[in-house]
Amino acid sequence: MAIKEKPFFQTLFLLATFIVSFVVISNAQIQRVTDIRDEDQWEMVEKKGNQFMVGDQPFYVNGFNTYWLMIFAVDPSTRQKVSDVFQQASSVGLTVCRTWAFSDGGWRALQKSPSVYDEQVFKGLDFVVNEARKYKIRLVLSLVNNWEAYGGKSQYVQWGKQAGLNLTSDDDFFSDSTIKGYYKAHVKNMLTRVNTFNNVTYKDDPTIFAWELMNEPRCLADPSGDRLQEWIEEMAYHVKSIDRKHLLEIGVEGFYGPSTQERLQENPNNFAGQVGTDFIRNHQALGIDFASVHVYPDAWLSNVISDSYLGFVKSWMESHMEDAEKVLGMPVVFGEFGVSSKDEKFNQTFRDEFIDTVYKTLLNSTRKGGSGGGSLIWQLFPDGTDYMDDGYAVVLTKSPSTCDIVSLQSRRLQSFNSRCSWRCHWGCRKRNTADMFLYNAEL
Ligand SMILES: *[C@@H]1O[C@H](CO)[C@@H](O)[C@H](O)[C@H]1NC(C)=O
Ligand SMILES: *[C@@H]1O[C@H](CO)[C@@H](O)[C@H](O)[C@H]1NC(C)=O
Ligand SMILES: *[C@@H]1O[C@H](CO)[C@@H](O)[C@H](O)[C@H]1NC(C)=O
Ligand SMILES: *[C@@H]1O[C@H](CO)[C@@H](O)[C@H](O)[C@H]1NC(C)=O
Repeated sequence: MAIKEKPFFQTLFLLATFIVSFVVISNAQIQRVTDIRDEDQWEMVEKKGNQFMVGDQPFYVNGFNTYWLMIFAVDPSTRQKVSDVFQQASSVGLTVCRTWAFSDGGWRALQKSPSVYDEQVFKGLDFVVNEARKYKIRLVLSLVNNWEAYGGKSQYVQWGKQAGLNLTSDDDFFSDSTIKGYYKAHVKNMLTRVNTFNNVTYKDDPTIFAWELMNEPRCLADPSGDRLQEWIEEMAYHVKSIDRKHLLEIGVEGFYGPSTQERLQENPNNFAGQVGTDFIRNHQALGIDFASVHVYPDAWLSNVISDSYLGFVKSWMESHMEDAEKVLGMPVVFGEFGVSSKDEKFNQTFRDEFIDTVYKTLLNSTRKGGSGGGSLIWQLFPDGTDYMDDGYAVVLTKSPSTCDIVSLQSRRLQSFNSRCSWRCHWGCRKRNTADMFLYNAEL
């Protein structure tokens, strides 16, 4: 009996062990596969032709601007606002945030003098980058300002003067070799920064959607556009020589310039064609991956009635999407658009209509597989930061109607973004409920 019993129980035991291990192993495998899936989705954003892609899926952008994130992240008493704005943005489906990766000289300077950094401020930016990922938000990081806010080109020129250079204009920023050296060093310091929260080098971090050379560069000192063009070419090469993986854009407002006389009529006014920028030519520089355009009818058009504002918005966007598609062969992102509610003409109703026009014009391009890659609203603020509002701030919790418009756009773009997985995996373009929704929803 004893001899017979033993193998029976042994077999039973072995069988039980086998079943348990099998379950454990397969669970572990499922877990691992899930982890890998998550990682897959957090790949670098790439560009194929006139579309953004993540892996084998298109990536159309519904996003926002909040320029002060780094500064707020420095101080523990305001850091929570960074998480708040990411949380609120992701709750309405926004996936990209554009923000400043500069603060030159002055209060809360990141760069106190050329290549001398305040580590506390840099840690603030580290926090922003690490935090964004938690909310699945990617960042467009701008590297310097054209304007004086947070230092900008005038601070660089100031540093040059202090070093004894004979500089006469802020636009020497674009041509003086020492100043260009300061900027190049900042670019290198930024791209090779190792994030103190996660040890990932910025240039390897898929959380960064793209680098931006400058916020709204203008070079009035040379209306021909040559000076800015050379700067763009030199700096694009510099960025790509350090970081080949990330996308790069310029940050221009999108004014047509001397190289395309026939397009000048699309500009909001005559002055716009004389600020040293040139939309088509600028974006033909080697290394520039996608086009940037801003949309500010309230600042650019003189005192006209509201209807013409929306007409301008539509034709301004359409001409840039057409050029991006037919001439440049790249996506275009409307990196800033907004109206100031400080102007009585632009009440909440008008603002919603404006946002809606931007979204629908873009969607018309998306539907046709055009170059409209996305838009970033200027600007999203979390609760309790209204005191900094320059009139353009949208506080989602206080604007339910705007919230609805933003959410709807996110859902529409999201159904384009998840579309390719069916095509790629099943080899056919399935008509589905998402398509019904996209094509039948009132436009
Ligand atoms: C500084 O440059 C300007 C023009 O570039 C020139 O006219 C001037 O003589 C220069 N001054 C000195 C001290 O070199
Ligand atoms: C980063 O790397 C350092 C040195 O290898 C290590 O001590 C630290 O724990 C790492 N930090 C994180 C957040 O991984
Ligand atoms: C908002 O402004 C528009 C014109 O810009 C006007 O037609 C409309 O009546 C205004 N609405 C409110 C609620 O003030
Ligand atoms: C979208 O495209 C359709 C057809 O091409 C056009 O009728 C409609 O006006 C467009 N809508 C917008 C907002 O551009």
